[in-house]
Amino acid sequence: MTGSGPGSVWPGSAYTSSVNDTLPTADSLRAALAGLLDGLPPRQATQAVDRLIANYRGTTPTGTPLLRDRSDVAAYAAYRMPATFEAVRSALHALREAAPDWVPATHTDVGGGTGAASWAVAGAWEGPRTTVLDWAEAALALGRELVGASAVPALDDVEWRRARIGEDLDLDAADLVTVSYVLNELTPRARTALVDAAARAAQAVVIVEPGTPDGYARVIEARDRLTAAGFTVAAPCPHSDACPIEPGTDWCHFSVRVSRSSLHRQVKGGSLPYEDEKFSYVVATRFAVDAVAARITRRPQIRKGQVLLELCTRDEGLQRATVTKRHGELYRAARDIDWGDAWPPPQEAM
Ligand SMILES: C[S@@+](CC[C@H](N)C(=O)[O-])C[C@H]1O[C@@H](n2cnc3c(N)ncnc32)[C@H](O)[C@@H]1O
Repeated sequence: MTGSGPGSVWPGSAYTSSVNDTLPTADSLRAALAGLLDGLPPRQATQAVDRLIANYRGTTPTGTPLLRDRSDVAAYAAYRMPATFEAVRSALHALREAAPDWVPATHTDVGGGTGAASWAVAGAWEGPRTTVLDWAEAALALGRELVGASAVPALDDVEWRRARIGEDLDLDAADLVTVSYVLNELTPRARTALVDAAARAAQAVVIVEPGTPDGYARVIEARDRLTAAGFTVAAPCPHSDACPIEPGTDWCHFSVRVSRSSLHRQVKGGSLPYEDEKFSYVVATRFAVDAVAARITRRPQIRKGQVLLELCTRDEGLQRATVTKRHGELYRAARDIDWGDAWPPPQEAM
């Protein structure tokens, strides 16, 4: 999914005239991470990542936090945070496209850990007051440290608060609630309690999960609860009706490219300068949105003189479309379109 759009504050967008250097970006996050992890010996970082992967392969949910100490959390931040940040950033971009005039004043990041979603929110809008809730004190402490190590004043006022997500969860009212890469770590009952609490508390809810069949299933379960609570699906779906994918046959997911710093490469291994993070998400709102006519659900296939698109459409479910040179301006737009984008692209982008 591209990171540009009208009024976008993302660097590299066609609309960078509104960029404010004090807003968080992938680069400022990477710089803060590099500074913070500088002192961590490479061997210790690698061991912590191995332990983290082993823990995540074990049974979740656990009764206590998986992120127990600073090296666990530092490993998580180096290993996963750039990718979770980019995935949330993509979901927020879709929300901003669907509701260009909406600006949240308050934001709660539930299970926010080291603050990836908070960085993404602070980059999407100027001024939301963010509260990060998590039960892992070590994660909150590192999140606070990362903000301190960055030159990003937009994050200075984030409140880092210890909280357990359980069946009795209640959230303070907030314009925006984000839940990124958390549902998998909860019991089924805590998961529904969290989605219901978010629906009671928020005007807009953003849920992001890994782009796997299981992650998608958790997103669909949350989507169903949000629509039952009266929410409209703002993205990625072009409507709030049932998902047209027949359960078990496929899963709706997207991909975002994450550039890897040398530190990231060192912790994760491998030499590629980037990786593709696959994610599933839903954005639901209590307010009306500009629904897209369709969304691109696979990487477009560019052939000689034609582009093949797989679409989820508002009126006709899942569709394939072939856009050829004969389509003129639409063909040129199709050559630039990306997985996850709205189709057809907004007029001003053509
Ligand atoms: C995979 S991390 C995701 C962190 C962050 N949201 C992100 O996108 O990078 C999951 C987070 O959920 C938190 N968590 C898991 N179960 C929790 C619970 N029952 N109560 C509070 N936090 C929980 C963990 O401590 C961890 O910080």
